[in-house]
Amino acid sequence: MGNCFGSSAKVEIAHSSRPTSEISRSSSKKHNPIVPSYNPNSVADRNDNNNVLNLPTPRTEGEILSSSNLKPFHFNELKNATRNFRPDSLLGEGGFGYVFKGWIDENKLAAARPGLGMVVAVKKLKAEASQGHKEWLTEVDYLGKFHHPNLVKLIGYCLEGENRLLVYEFMPRGSLENHLFRRGSQPLSWALRIKVAIAAARGLSFLHEAESPVIYRDFKASNILLDAEFNAKLSDFGLAKAGPTGDRTHVTTQVMGTRGYAAPEYIATGRLTSKSDVYSFGVVLLELLSGLRAEDNLVEWAMPYLGDKRRLFRIMDTKLEGRYSKKGAYVAANLASQCLRREPRARPRMTEILGELEELESPKTAARISHSVQRETIALSNSKVDASLSTLYQKSPQRQ
Ligand SMILES: Nc1ncnc2c1ncn2[C@@H]1O[C@H](COP(=O)(O)OP(=O)(O)OP(=O)(O)O)[C@@H](O)[C@H]1O
Ligand SMILES: [Mg+2]
Repeated sequence: MGNCFGSSAKVEIAHSSRPTSEISRSSSKKHNPIVPSYNPNSVADRNDNNNVLNLPTPRTEGEILSSSNLKPFHFNELKNATRNFRPDSLLGEGGFGYVFKGWIDENKLAAARPGLGMVVAVKKLKAEASQGHKEWLTEVDYLGKFHHPNLVKLIGYCLEGENRLLVYEFMPRGSLENHLFRRGSQPLSWALRIKVAIAAARGLSFLHEAESPVIYRDFKASNILLDAEFNAKLSDFGLAKAGPTGDRTHVTTQVMGTRGYAAPEYIATGRLTSKSDVYSFGVVLLELLSGLRAEDNLVEWAMPYLGDKRRLFRIMDTKLEGRYSKKGAYVAANLASQCLRREPRARPRMTEILGELEELESPKTAARISHSVQRETIALSNSKVDASLSTLYQKSPQRQ
């Protein structure tokens, strides 16, 4: 889920293979420490924090849990559904905890025998996650009341003693982060990158334009999950915040988020607006274009190329091998550069960004996407067959 910038760091430095520039990259895995210049105890900020207290009264835990249509699970049920949280059911690890693959009965939503029923993803809070319970509850609160095709579906939760778990729809293609950066993964085609950008923009626009707007605050490649057809959905609402209401232009909060994606003014002042999400969207667009991880200097490095039609190819992902629409790339680069403007008010709204991106998805591109999805789906099922065959052979050495 989310990360506080102040926590401990795991930094991995690598070099870009690009001949034009060398840029150091860190793993997007959170907990990269940066010290915000914003001091939460300063007088001005305390006043702002008082304003936060005047926001609509947050609901109590009891209200949140009783008002949602989410299924409460017993710990033992989820233990069975994930084969006792076995390491081979592990889908991934984040700041909040581990995510396991599990099976539940589609109708009764009770734990099912592994391999039977509906596949789900079960996120289990690590005991040491400091903000754990608060983020867990925020996630239940937002995903319990917001339903949209581009937000991951939360099916249920478990709150039992020290145990905090969340049960989500399973997203078979994992995170965008894995597709863009994991070594050995099949490169995403240009058409799929645009498809992902559009779906993610739809998710964010929905949140920003809601009757009571929401700032997502942790928009990044690892929180964009993909279903079998590469439809993107936002996950992780642990850091989401109610947007400003009335005459207020911002809310002030402790600086939380992920290094490389957070807007500079938010890091400096703790002042949060929907334009902070727009900045993070610009960073992800840049990752989609360049195939490079967001980090301290990706934005600075790429900025000079974004408005330059002739030099744009220098930042484009070499894994695309030149197979992208030059016009489309220029439009997307221009959008990224607008999102990354230092002045938040000069950044476009998510709805405007969405409109421009949708124009890139012409019927011809849409047809290309559908072909590429079909190709990838065949590749996915072949790799599943390969995986099950190799498991079978591993289990039966006498077959050789
Ligand atoms: N619903 C899901 N379906 C399939 N895989 C999932 C699902 N949710 C999470 N995962 C996998 O588990 C990984 C860890 O997710 P998690 O949200 O805990 O951490 P993260 O996004 O990598 O980091 P952070 O803690 O900063 O959000 C994801 O990157 C993804 O690969
Ligand atoms: Mg996440």
